[in-house]
Amino acid sequence: MTLENIIEMDKNFYVNIFGDRIPLAFNKGRGCYLTSVEGDEYLDFYGGVAVNSLGHAHPKFVSALKEQLDSLIHTSSTYYVENQALLAQKLSEISGLSKVVFANSGAEANEAALKMARLYFYRYSEPRRKVVTLTNSFHGRTFGTLAASGQNKFHTPFRPILQEFHYINPNDDEMLEEIDDCTAAVMIELVQGECGVRDLDAGYVKRLVERAKAFDTLVIVDEVQTGIARTGAWFAYQQYGIKPDIVTVAKGLGGGVPIGAAMVTDSVARMIKPGDHGSTFAGSPFACRAGLEVIKIIEEENLIDNVNVMGDKIREMLNSLGYRNVRGKGLMIGVPVDNSPLVCQMLRDNHVIVGNVGLDTLRLLPPLIVGEAEVERLGEALKMLS
Ligand SMILES: Cc1ncc(COP(=O)(O)O)c(C=O)c1O
Repeated sequence: MTLENIIEMDKNFYVNIFGDRIPLAFNKGRGCYLTSVEGDEYLDFYGGVAVNSLGHAHPKFVSALKEQLDSLIHTSSTYYVENQALLAQKLSEISGLSKVVFANSGAEANEAALKMARLYFYRYSEPRRKVVTLTNSFHGRTFGTLAASGQNKFHTPFRPILQEFHYINPNDDEMLEEIDDCTAAVMIELVQGECGVRDLDAGYVKRLVERAKAFDTLVIVDEVQTGIARTGAWFAYQQYGIKPDIVTVAKGLGGGVPIGAAMVTDSVARMIKPGDHGSTFAGSPFACRAGLEVIKIIEEENLIDNVNVMGDKIREMLNSLGYRNVRGKGLMIGVPVDNSPLVCQMLRDNHVIVGNVGLDTLRLLPPLIVGEAEVERLGEALKMLS
């Protein structure tokens, strides 16, 4: 199909939830490169919004998934599922948390986390309903995660949203007083992706966790975007030196196959009973195989080191071109610029794909396999802007 045909069909049949999309469609990807239906090659520095952790069509990943398709895609969770058990064990090993619940997306993983926080107090002591989250946070688009997302624009059309969510400003110590003995959980992203790639201050995070622990409040870290090596460690909370009670992941875990997970401590897991939660699709043999292979390839190819080395190279390159106050960690990078949508478009005209948040930030989320050649190519495209 031509691009024009695709756009026309989309306008006719797809509910307009994305507005006017960028007039491009891709039908092939290799490594860090995408090919459009018009046959043009683009350097992908956006990685499907932090999903394509291994880039496109990684040979080992593709061959493992083909093998899995040939053997088994789905069974009911009424039965034991080997890949589920293996991936749960692996996630526990790399996170230090004890147990795992699978989901199909980031929002669903967060939904499970919020439910488990309320269940914990329901079973453990007095019920607690209150959940504290940060202003400008983004946790998903289900009713629970919409309420958790501290952005009015998401709430307005859906009111009444789920009650008992309270929002505090990031890096504001005074507002930590909102966390009290009625608070079931405090839920945070350590690098807030959707509001401009903004890192939380390490001292503030320590104080937030101390305050939460003082009231037995559970700490939920939403690592849907930061998790699975994106920031240069398996999980960003490991870089902050904190011990959360619940951690959620999704995006990069499946390398493009939908999967999410909420990982919990033993004491949280003990409060969850059969029937409290479930999902038809979550933790399928296919999705869990994808997760297992992503983690295996990250280990085999030392991609955590690559994230740190390439993250530094990108920052050096940006600095040498005069970009200042670059935010984020590892390969989750926010670059302050004037008129970021226009800069994105100009880069696209040079066949480089990046994202933007709002009008003032470029967002770089390249695959974890990105190399020096790609960093240089981005640098050349940026030079052509000036
Ligand atoms: C931090 C964070 N949490 C949750 C979500 C929601 O994930 P999903 O779109 O897979 O439901 C996102 C998506 O961008 C996210 O960045």
